[in-house]
Amino acid sequence: MGGGGREHALCWALQRDASAATHDLELFAAPGNPGTAALATNLPIAATAIDDLVAAVQHQAIDLTVVGPEAPLAAGLADRLHAIRAHVFGPTAAAARLESSKAYAKEVMRRAAVPTAASETFTDAAAARDYIRGRREPLVVKASGLAAGKGAVVCATRAEASDVARTMLSGTALGEAGREIVIEDYVEGEELSVLALTDGEQVLILPPAQDHKRLGEGDTGPNTGGMGAYCPVSLATDALLARVRRDVFEPVLREMAAQGALYEGVLYAGLMLQADGTPCVLEFNCRFGDPETQAVLPVLPEGWTAHLAAIAARRWTGPPAALAAQRTAVTTVLAARGYPDAPEQGAPIVLPAAAALGDRVIVFHAGTTRDPQGALRTAGGRVLSVTGLGGDVAAAAAASAEACARIEFPGKTWRRDIAWRETRRARAGAA
Ligand code: GLY
Repeated sequence: MGGGGREHALCWALQRDASAATHDLELFAAPGNPGTAALATNLPIAATAIDDLVAAVQHQAIDLTVVGPEAPLAAGLADRLHAIRAHVFGPTAAAARLESSKAYAKEVMRRAAVPTAASETFTDAAAARDYIRGRREPLVVKASGLAAGKGAVVCATRAEASDVARTMLSGTALGEAGREIVIEDYVEGEELSVLALTDGEQVLILPPAQDHKRLGEGDTGPNTGGMGAYCPVSLATDALLARVRRDVFEPVLREMAAQGALYEGVLYAGLMLQADGTPCVLEFNCRFGDPETQAVLPVLPEGWTAHLAAIAARRWTGPPAALAAQRTAVTTVLAARGYPDAPEQGAPIVLPAAAALGDRVIVFHAGTTRDPQGALRTAGGRVLSVTGLGGDVAAAAAASAEACARIEFPGKTWRRDIAWRETRRARAGAA
């Protein structure tokens, strides 16, 4: 369920595993996009139309539902599918609160003693202002509710933080999502996205990825949903992942179970690695990341999607602790002119055939559509995710950048420096 680059990548992974195992797979995407249409039957159902999605699962006798976006999970899609005994990979609404309420996530982390920045939650602007007065700059003001990636604002000064807090709480900036806010100390470091599959108790950590949230090269310009990602990340050593398992995933899952909100699905921990290597949790997401998924899934060993089916069927026994990356992937997002504020729509896309781009490139569709004549056009902020594969980060980055240069549409906006930190580390290591 869903219709972006993440969901195209999930379809690609499910189809790859079915082909490798030579078993038949009939795949549906709701609503999907022109990319998933090449692998699946697209059903014209929005990912938020819960009743219609449940009806489609029944009507098509779907064996396994994998939910991409957070909104249907927060709205209880998994609960509804459990109620009709359908197998679903994704948390219940109660468990998805780890993403849909930042205030709740902070409370869970506090109870589970998970390392995270000091914070307080507010619904009143005067109380928020008083708290801000006593904190050190910079500060982060977060809408507690779902805000499509626009809910966290880094504020250089206390005055700015007070303004942002007041505007969010008034409901004018982000509607109901901002009526409750979390004010958090700013944490310095390097971000890391660690995704783990879980049945609420056992944990299988996927190779971590690093997202690039800023629009411009060198991490400049406005925040976006993500302009690119790469996987694996050399900072994510086995020792670090063991620590993240022990200090983050296991205590949070225990706390969720203790609260009667067993967490099943993929849990995404957005970490900040501080200068001394200590991981600090910035946020949890209740789903696969986008664009991280487009970089992580292509490096996983064939057959890994069996874990999704086993978790959904509640017969997951003895999973490995982690999956190792089989190669390196660098994913570059091609965005529309005007992204993230007002992306242009409808520009014609010239996309070379997959064979012409070569077997080291996978193009995942995100914001694309086909016009009545069948021509591909832009239909969203992030248009395509272009994953380059290689034996190392330099080869993967070059494959991605070469393919990006060959794809054309008016207003094409992209960063040529995805994975720059890892490339710099690799060069320093070789010198
Ligand atoms: N790439 C960030 C996210 O999926 O929320």
